[in-house]
Amino acid sequence: MEEDVVGTIGNIGSMTGKDGVSAGGIELSGPTKGRYVEPRKEVSTPTRLTKFLCLDDFEISAQRKLPRQIFGYYAGAAETNQSREANRALFKQYAFVPRVLVNVSERSQRKSLFGHVYDAPFGIAPMGLAGLSTFNGDVVLAQSGASENIPAIASATSLAPLERIADEGQSRWFQSYLPGEDARIEAMVDRVESAGFEHFILTADVPVAANRENNVRAGFSIPLTPSLRLAWDGLTHSRWLLKTWFATYYKYGVPHFENMDAFRGPPILSRNVVRAIGARDQLAWRHVSLIRKRWKKTLIIKGILAPEDARLAREHGADGIIVSNHGGRQLDGAASALHVLSEIKHMTGDFTVMVDGGFRRGSDVLKALALGADFVFLGRPFMFAAAAAGLEGVRHAIQLLKAEIDRDMAMLGLHDVNEISGDFIKRI
Ligand SMILES: Cc1cc2nc3c(=O)[nH]c(=O)nc-3n(C[C@H](O)[C@H](O)[C@H](O)COP(=O)(O)O)c2cc1C
Repeated sequence: MEEDVVGTIGNIGSMTGKDGVSAGGIELSGPTKGRYVEPRKEVSTPTRLTKFLCLDDFEISAQRKLPRQIFGYYAGAAETNQSREANRALFKQYAFVPRVLVNVSERSQRKSLFGHVYDAPFGIAPMGLAGLSTFNGDVVLAQSGASENIPAIASATSLAPLERIADEGQSRWFQSYLPGEDARIEAMVDRVESAGFEHFILTADVPVAANRENNVRAGFSIPLTPSLRLAWDGLTHSRWLLKTWFATYYKYGVPHFENMDAFRGPPILSRNVVRAIGARDQLAWRHVSLIRKRWKKTLIIKGILAPEDARLAREHGADGIIVSNHGGRQLDGAASALHVLSEIKHMTGDFTVMVDGGFRRGSDVLKALALGADFVFLGRPFMFAAAAAGLEGVRHAIQLLKAEIDRDMAMLGLHDVNEISGDFIKRI
């Protein structure tokens, strides 16, 4: 049965001038006089999604739907949450200086990145265990990205084999956690290449597991340890238990860490997980050179904060970096991407510099672009949207953010998102 469709989230997408008359088009006066412009595409919203008005709304629903341990793992950060909170707080230190009366009836937020033109300047960051957020969650995130034409990065700790994420989800971005062992690195690079990925992201800020006390307090651990508490939490979230856990078990068996190595990793309930992760603390710059020799397509290093490391990434052949403190989930007290962005841009010139951490609004995305970022990634909001409403939920979240960017661009006096610069922002 088709769902009721009520309301819209505004006009999104880019508006292109077109010669000749098109039905429903509007005639423009001023500089574009005589040309007809197609009406902006209205995006209709299924009834069950109309309560989600902004990205933060998904978190409330996800918290209700997910077992406490799983929600805690997704939402949590390291130790005192200092970096996670700083990521959000920093946006308030920047204010816009908009331009007015510039006829912004034609607007485009399309952004070119590594030879592909995306429909928006943001994408989905890699997130582990997405397969526990909703049935086939890793594929759902990838599919949402593909259908909205934004990048979605598959995680090393995803629970679906990367080949299936590439195939069913049309994902072309894969993030790897690598041990400092040449043979394992080479085998993994070969596997990612055979699956058809085009962008290889090496996450560099996880030499050891973080201290996530909140996970321990909530009863979450890797491996997941069966306990009365876990069972109770599952039973009291019966929809999740049936539609996510049992549906997954029925179709694919117990979820495994499928993508940490060239071969299938241990099940998530296994005690061998820690052993499988091993030797990450031996990873060094020489391994980046090793990957660079073997991987011919785009190579990106994620988890850079020091300008000197940005320079080293470029020197070792990376095509770009993601400046990130891992959403505050690794080193508590680590700087936020916005703290170091300008310095990194200054040091690396035209190198592709992407950022993540705490982005929740179109205005946040635009602030980072104004400060020199080439692209922005978001994590938790998309995981919560998957938990709240599956594929449709994530697509709705993407559309909400696109609509916010589009609206903000109009109020900033921007036709093209690539026009934004430091002139539109002020540190307060
Ligand atoms: C549940 C969860 C799992 C994550 N797993 C990974 C991962 O497997 N690999 C990785 O590089 N980053 C991982 N991250 C970090 C994200 O890629 C990203 O840096 C961070 O979420 C951005 O912050 P935000 O969640 O505030 O948007 C994870 C983040 C979350 C929330």
